Amino acid sequence: MAKPTRADLARMAETLFRPFEAGGLSLPNRIVMAPMTRCLSPGGVPGADVAAYYRRRAEGGVGLIITEGTWIPHPSASNEPDVPRFYGMDALAGWQRVVDEVHAAGGKIMPQLWHIGQTAKTELEGLFTDTDSGVDRQVGPSGMVGALGVMPRPLDRPATIEEIEAVGAAYVEAAASAYRLGFDGVELHAAHGYLFDQFFWHATNLREDHYGGDLAARTRFAADIVRGIRAATAPGFPIVLRISQWKMHDYAAKLAETPADLERFLAPLVDAGVDIFHCSQRRFWEGEFGTDLNLAGWVKKLSGTPTITVGSVTLQQEMLVTLRGEPSATEPNLAQLLTLLDRGDFDLVAVGRALIVDPDWPAKIRAGAEDALLPYSPAALATLA
Ligand SMILES: Cc1cc2nc3c(=O)[nH]c(=O)nc-3n(C[C@H](O)[C@H](O)[C@H](O)COP(=O)(O)O)c2cc1C
Repeated sequence: MAKPTRADLARMAETLFRPFEAGGLSLPNRIVMAPMTRCLSPGGVPGADVAAYYRRRAEGGVGLIITEGTWIPHPSASNEPDVPRFYGMDALAGWQRVVDEVHAAGGKIMPQLWHIGQTAKTELEGLFTDTDSGVDRQVGPSGMVGALGVMPRPLDRPATIEEIEAVGAAYVEAAASAYRLGFDGVELHAAHGYLFDQFFWHATNLREDHYGGDLAARTRFAADIVRGIRAATAPGFPIVLRISQWKMHDYAAKLAETPADLERFLAPLVDAGVDIFHCSQRRFWEGEFGTDLNLAGWVKKLSGTPTITVGSVTLQQEMLVTLRGEPSATEPNLAQLLTLLDRGDFDLVAVGRALIVDPDWPAKIRAGAEDALLPYSPAALATLA
């Protein structure tokens, strides 16, 4: 195919600028800012600079912002003090300012609610320096602890039912706070090997009670929480669930080996009330199950639920390479993305690093100016420009 001109791309890009309406959410376009941990909220409190950072992305034309992962109110949730909390009057006042500023700029925003489960902090070596989680007890389904490149192994005791219920209540409390503050929904971080994913994955969930069993049974922890959030918020309050096949310990890991597995996994979550699935991949063009349909495509097809895709949109290097300190040049993959969006594989497109370096990414895309996009440098993580 001949290289598309700016005019060709601008014409194709209109598919990204169609409004979206589903799952209680109305968006002016299909562009989502992916959740990205910044570690720039001292003491867990998002400051005025965090509000300005998100406001700038809303002004740049992002349809929906999903915030960096934020800690739910449970002492076992976190591994990093400068990641924002989603609890406590000081942190919630900071989030109120974020939501107000984004709304003033005409944007929509959801917090990503996060609990790391039993993930050793060393998994993000290079991004974080301190390897001591500072938490007395990490909580996970079967006491399995893993780290970047290190497969989970049994190191601790499984979570008690009381611990599981307390963590579940903390998710519900955080979501109720998001609702009260006026956020446009919540995203639950159920991807990448963290707490929810530890329940989902056979290698980290060896339980034989309500929370363990086959793949469908292993969704119960998440499904119960989704129901709890629905009851504590409102029928139309959007609940997004971020899932992935891969884990931080193992990029080749598969939650679902076949479409039938994936269907069994999704059904109880849809039934519980998930409105949108955010399907995390490192490269959006990689198909699942030996087809050219990516994870967001399969999830949409099997669940009938809207999906968000993500992964190296307009960038050459995938995210983990850059988390280890490499830069990434831009990559002209927009036409391929727009073709998949246009054929209905997924509904929304999340963009991560490209929006950190360039809040004007949406306007450039609308003009077809892929050649004017900026490369990504990990140095951009040092500030909230
Ligand atoms: C610095 C950084 C921090 C991230 N933090 C999170 C996070 O808190 N929660 C999450 O679900 N994904 C996180 N991710 C993954 C991104 O949401 C996204 O899926 C990934 O960067 C791929 O998109 P991109 O290629 O457009 O950057 C992070 C990625 C980066 C680069």
